[in-house]
Amino acid sequence: MAQLAAASRVYPAHRLHPLPVRIMHWINAVAIFIMIGSGWKIYNDDIIFSFLRFPDSIVIGKWAQYGLEWHFFGMWIFVLNGLAYLCYGIATGRFRRKLFPISIREVFVTIGEALRFRLRHDDLTHYNAVQKVLYLGVMIVGILIVISGLALWKPIQFSELANLFGSFQNIRLVHFFCMSAIVAFIVVHVTLALLVPQSLLAMLTGGPAIDDDATGRAPAVSKVETTG
Ligand code: HEM
Repeated sequence: MAQLAAASRVYPAHRLHPLPVRIMHWINAVAIFIMIGSGWKIYNDDIIFSFLRFPDSIVIGKWAQYGLEWHFFGMWIFVLNGLAYLCYGIATGRFRRKLFPISIREVFVTIGEALRFRLRHDDLTHYNAVQKVLYLGVMIVGILIVISGLALWKPIQFSELANLFGSFQNIRLVHFFCMSAIVAFIVVHVTLALLVPQSLLAMLTGGPAIDDDATGRAPAVSKVETTG
């Protein structure tokens, strides 16, 4: 009994979304909001597609210069917070546990279930295959949007990077399409979060305590057995 109590001190109860994940997730949501709104203002100043101009009511920054200042402010938050999230996800094994493995067959099965409105939401502790693909995908797009942003910001200093894209206009296009992919992700992601409110609550409160198997740590009991 005493050993069990000692073991649970070594491996404290673990929440589905630990506090650092929740803090970084919501900081990221605010940073993305700032970056997209200000990015749209900057875009309006020198449009890429003649048919597309973002209404003033949904952009951030009264003038393009203000939009740029907001964009850099959001960029520092997004980059530093994103790096912290990537380091945390890799170092704690969260990415390995929650996002891998991905089965292509399961992706198709999950899409089929979603289309027939038969997707199950009773187990919050596991991401389905489509969630895994979407979360990994948005992380890759997040990295690409930062790289293309760096090339747009300092095309001379990062000339080798900029050259990889072929032309300045290509960098703008890549940056724009990454933004579009993130907006599409957010529409799906927020819709699903609202459709399954307990997942939203879990991202706010931490959600249920999960057992050690789900965290990938050695079970507390086996720790007792091996040391006992
Ligand atoms: C207001 C906007 C947002 C809401 C309401 C929201 C909601 C949520 C919820 C409820 C979850 C948990 C899903 C689950 O347990 O099944 C989650 C996870 C996640 N969200 Fe969001 N989200 C928002 C914005 C964003 C943005 C802007 C991004 C990235 C561009 C993002 C990326 C992620 C990722 C990568 C995860 C998985 C986190 C992990 O498990 O480590 N979210 N979000």
